[in-house]
Amino acid sequence: MNVQDSSRYHEVHARSLRDPEGFWGEAAREIDWIEPAQKVFDPAMGLYGRWFAGAVVNTCYNALDRHVAGGRAGQLALIHDSPLTNTVTKFTYAELLREVQTLAAVMQDFGVVKGDRVILYMPMVSEAVVAMLACARIGAVHSVVFGGFAAKELATRIDDARPKLIFSASCGLEPGRNVHYKPLLDEAIALATAKPDACIILQRPQQACDLVTGRDHDWATLRRAARDAGKLAPCVGVLATDPLYILYTSGTTGKPKGVVRDNGGHLVALKWSMHNLYGVNPGEVWWCGSDIGWVVGHSYIIYGPLIHGATSVMYEGKPVGTPDAGAFWRVISEHKAVALFTAPTAFRAIRKEDPDGKFIRQHDLSTFRTLFLAGERADPPTVEWAEAQLKVPVIDHWWQTETGWCIAGNPVGLGLLPVKHGSPTVPMPGYKVEVVDEAARPVAADIMGSIVIRLPLPPGCLPTLWQQDERCRESYLSEFPGCYKTSDAGYIDEDGYVFVMGRTDDIINVAGHRLSTGSMEEILAAHPDVAECAVLGINDAIKGEVPCGFIVLKAGVTRSPTEIEKEVVALVREKLGPVAAFKLAITVGRLPKTRSGKILRGTIKKIADGDAWTMPATIEDPKALDEIGEALKGRV
Ligand code: COA
Ligand code: AMP
Repeated sequence: MNVQDSSRYHEVHARSLRDPEGFWGEAAREIDWIEPAQKVFDPAMGLYGRWFAGAVVNTCYNALDRHVAGGRAGQLALIHDSPLTNTVTKFTYAELLREVQTLAAVMQDFGVVKGDRVILYMPMVSEAVVAMLACARIGAVHSVVFGGFAAKELATRIDDARPKLIFSASCGLEPGRNVHYKPLLDEAIALATAKPDACIILQRPQQACDLVTGRDHDWATLRRAARDAGKLAPCVGVLATDPLYILYTSGTTGKPKGVVRDNGGHLVALKWSMHNLYGVNPGEVWWCGSDIGWVVGHSYIIYGPLIHGATSVMYEGKPVGTPDAGAFWRVISEHKAVALFTAPTAFRAIRKEDPDGKFIRQHDLSTFRTLFLAGERADPPTVEWAEAQLKVPVIDHWWQTETGWCIAGNPVGLGLLPVKHGSPTVPMPGYKVEVVDEAARPVAADIMGSIVIRLPLPPGCLPTLWQQDERCRESYLSEFPGCYKTSDAGYIDEDGYVFVMGRTDDIINVAGHRLSTGSMEEILAAHPDVAECAVLGINDAIKGEVPCGFIVLKAGVTRSPTEIEKEVVALVREKLGPVAAFKLAITVGRLPKTRSGKILRGTIKKIADGDAWTMPATIEDPKALDEIGEALKGRV
């Protein structure tokens, strides 16, 4: 029998499509419901139907209370490991529950009730996990904003979500510098039209901050007072179809999209994935090395492992430099993790520092069974290196903020399928993945096209964008009728393996972070000396892609182009944030365009990446491309 035959995958996936209600209804038995669903799937609700319609549930109860009641009170729920502060802090399920009950009571004292939004702008500290679960406990809708975004981005999210309360901290820690969150928060609130009632601020010992009288409150003081008073908030039942959180992600315009996650579908899908996809059992230690500001962090630092009754490792550090390229192996061996989920970029960084894997062999990795990669395409050389060094399966898997969990992966728990480098393997249950041409017709095996998912999307995926049904329909559902548009391009081979090759829109992937070149162009174009600009992603050995901006100066500008380039680089950092990694702006005399005025981004990218390119037939003036080549010399 070969590996493929021994996997239950094909039978399971086929059943999920043949009988979705039977399949997900059965998976839903793993969740504790307050009231069961009237319909496992109601096709009449929402934009394309809703899962577990009518059910009442609480996500925090499923992540904490039921494990405490069910014998896991003394088991570790969360291990916070920070090489940046040299601390390891551990919480049992009972301890984490107590923290969450207490903070939820504090939130109620501030008048936060079911349906209210709460923003978190926080570093990778355990208090952030407590705050997210406390929101879930009382039915408040959290929206976490990644700490690497600047004040203006935070302000946009505040105005869209209109939070009653904001949780933040005095600082975040990056190697060699403290990120002062508080001034960014103050600026964002000043910029925003929707003002929160209150902010709860965690004062970190590395850098304290001033509190605004009447608006800001000290986290530790509130916690202590609530504990002394014995305040503990009970779980509030919410509908399975009520929102658990909003997570903003880059759209094709400057305005980010507020992806909504519901309670019921999310619980069922994540619980299903922990064993069947990731091969992890309750009680085992699991490590997802992402940030809580990203969807991967939401699903697999917090909700997935806790719903499953596993122990989750939360890491405040980097793969290299904290203190060295052995950091990941130290964490795995110290906490006895059975699996790690990270982005390929982290492995490229480790490989560069430790090509022969010397650090790997300094640690006992005997508990470690599987490495999972996602966030960007796992390039075959990186996968091969990881396989050779670690001697465990290296599993690429593909997903998006919108889906909340894996679209295509290799299901370890169902039985591993043969790995094909460059492919995240096969569609997970409930996902009917197709590749189509511009007229929405399915294409043959191995032919590139747009990757779509036939509706309905499985549980866990976005039901809509926050208060923007129409934008959701336009962004995802209208171009290919009956399908969800992933905006990824690729192909499916004869064996049904999906290959995801790149985006069809202006999104680029920088170190596993999703960014819009359109929003960077908006910032560049606002510089008073810039007449025109184009930002595109160019290849980078570590980060996969980095943005590169081309600017054309206004006629009559006499200032030094170098100065202006420095200014636009600083502007992107100030307006979008350091996470954009925008370090390269190049002044050119003009941008190469087609005769109809479209900028030839694809060809510029090929020139910058040193790839073979052909002269587009529609080009306005072929010399413009030579000028780009000249301008790039010595800059990339
Ligand atoms: N708060 C404030 N600033 C942050 C930040 C945060 N939470 N996270 C990153 N930044 C800053 C970094 O300090 C850096 O600033 P700099 O320009 O002053 O150096 C900038 O944003 C870019 O960060 P990043 O792209 O992460 O680069 P890096 O050089 O710090 O680290 C890697 C490179 C590859 C080690 C790192 O990107 C990494 O581990 N990536 C994994 C990504 C991941 O887990 N993605 C989630 C999807 S699975
Ligand atoms: P995000 O919403 O930030 O998770 O980014 C989602 C995008 O990242 C996808 O649409 C893909 O373009 C890319 N991506 C994520 N995982 C993979 C993967 N395993 N292979 C290829 N691309 C990926």
